[in-house]
Amino acid sequence: MTAHISLSGSKFAIEDGETVLECLTRNGVHVPHACCAGVCQSCLMRATDGEIPAAAQAGLKPTYVNQGLFLTCQCKPVGDMTLCPVGGGELDVPVQVADRVMLNHNVLCLRLGLEKDFVCEPGQYITLKNRAGVARSYSVANDPESDGYMELHIRLFPGGLMSDFLRTEAEVGAQMIIRGPAGNCFYVSDDAGQFPIVLAGTGTGLAPLYGIVRRALAKGHTGPIRLFHGALREADLYLVEQLKRVQGVHGNFSYIPCVLEGEAGRYYSCGHIEDMVMASLAGDKQAIRLFLCGAPEFVKSLKQKAFLAGVRSSHIHSDAFLPTKNVATAA
Ligand SMILES: Cc1cc2nc3c(=O)[nH]c(=O)nc-3n(C[C@H](O)[C@H](O)[C@H](O)COP(=O)(O)OP(=O)(O)OC[C@H]3O[C@@H](n4cnc5c(N)ncnc54)[C@H](O)[C@@H]3O)c2cc1C
Ligand code: FES
Repeated sequence: MTAHISLSGSKFAIEDGETVLECLTRNGVHVPHACCAGVCQSCLMRATDGEIPAAAQAGLKPTYVNQGLFLTCQCKPVGDMTLCPVGGGELDVPVQVADRVMLNHNVLCLRLGLEKDFVCEPGQYITLKNRAGVARSYSVANDPESDGYMELHIRLFPGGLMSDFLRTEAEVGAQMIIRGPAGNCFYVSDDAGQFPIVLAGTGTGLAPLYGIVRRALAKGHTGPIRLFHGALREADLYLVEQLKRVQGVHGNFSYIPCVLEGEAGRYYSCGHIEDMVMASLAGDKQAIRLFLCGAPEFVKSLKQKAFLAGVRSSHIHSDAFLPTKNVATAA
């Protein structure tokens, strides 16, 4: 039997194996989306009637689940559903661009002023929306509650929808919207902060890791903390001086920039970040907490290697920066 979805007085038939997002988009209904993998939460809608498959609510906060919210990109209806869009004020938090500065040739540091309280752990991610309805996930590089603003590190891609908006329109004072937070990549201490921490990220994968390092140090973490930042070329590194300063102040913190196409004898290590991280996983592997962020292939590969080398899977926290997957629109 064909399942139907009803939305704002219209009724659409679900094709075989189709998700709600695919069906609505095929019928010309705009639903913001980005990863199509159940991660970014930009495609949320509410079901007012009908069964929501469990997979469509995996990873959502209990308050979202209780409100009937679900991820349209993960929802393959098992029967008829009645939907309503998530109203603007419900989940959307207004923010204002407070500051913007380039951290290197293609990474923008965007600071967003918060008009109301927004509780978020450094290292979690939020969904940033512009006025055209483009929604993308970005990791939080600071503690917004204590700083009073949110800091994001955003790689600007040529031709990227959000990148182009941020490059040309997001001046200081511009209004934007955030939603969230989501994700489990953040610092939690359960033994007075004595365990070893290894953090590794490529590109803007540094953003959540920078937040986690600062949170751990602020909480008085005493175990060794090693931060590996991987870049293709030296010019792709950023926050080098800030991280060297943190290293100078905190004896238990080491900053290891790794450049693949580097020059020997400079301040960074030359070679593949994965090799360097694996070589550093010595000692009590059962105790190590590992944080991995950035390019999806890098995160997946290192996660597997670290697990096989003896790091407990419950101690590996990661966020893969999945690229946008566009769903086919109405012909
Ligand atoms: C959980 C999560 C956290 C994230 N955190 C961050 C973060 O902290 N900082 C950050 O910079 N990004 C982060 N991302 C990625 C971010 O959400 C966007 O995918 C990215 O900013 C591109 O958006 P865009 O609209 O500019 O480009 P899009 O319009 O999405 O893409 C347009 C074009 O840009 C290019 N492009 C886009 N992404 C990539 C890529 N990954 N590799 C190569 N080419 C690409 C491609 O040519 C693509 O066709 C995160 C993603 C996820 C899922
Ligand atoms: S979670 Fe649905 S598009 Fe990302």
